[in-house]
Amino acid sequence: MPHTLVSLSGVHTNQAWPGRTAALEALAKEHLSSPCVAMEIGTWFGEGSTAIWAKHLKRVYAYEKESRGDIYVLRGAASKLCAFFKPSTFDFIYIDGSHYYADVLEDIRLAKMLIKDGGTICGDDLEVAPSEARLVLARKNLHRDFIRLEDEDVWFHPGVLLAVHEHFRAVTNHAGIWSVVRRGEDWVAA
Ligand SMILES: C[S@@+](CC[C@H](N)C(=O)[O-])C[C@H]1O[C@@H](n2cnc3c(N)ncnc32)[C@H](O)[C@@H]1O
Repeated sequence: MPHTLVSLSGVHTNQAWPGRTAALEALAKEHLSSPCVAMEIGTWFGEGSTAIWAKHLKRVYAYEKESRGDIYVLRGAASKLCAFFKPSTFDFIYIDGSHYYADVLEDIRLAKMLIKDGGTICGDDLEVAPSEARLVLARKNLHRDFIRLEDEDVWFHPGVLLAVHEHFRAVTNHAGIWSVVRRGEDWVAA
């Protein structure tokens, strides 16, 4: 029933459509191919990014037999659940929960605390680069999930653009999927 209701609204239950799949697969291959501790914030129906991470996660036993990784589903606001983890717990954190500025800002703040040195923080919904005009527009629309650039036929998420820009000087971006690597106290667009 939830699938039917959601599909009637025009929102995809699988958010990893072609064009985005390649970027997600590349991240998974690069960061989840060896044993690691990973977290996704925002799983939706589990059919998009979640299914890609799950496909790549492995557990390697001492006698070198591989099996699927262990996956735990936690339900609740990311900002509350993240408080249960110790600093520097994760090798990989993917942020795709709330798109609103205050939430994304807080999710990234927590992710920075929870990521190990050398680990990767990444996320979805960074459709455009942060020009001054776009940042001004984003600041005026913090109550909106996504908005259209008037001069270009482009939709973007103002909260994600602003929060990512304020936390990181630069990020790598493929098809709206952004990422940075922690190097000590620095964040590197790798
Ligand atoms: C865009 S969807 C995630 C799509 C998913 N990553 C995929 O590729 O299929 C966002 C999800 O985050 C959840 N969400 C929204 N706000 C959240 C919050 N503050 N904390 C945790 N999850 C949140 C929504 O309920 C929804 O399930």
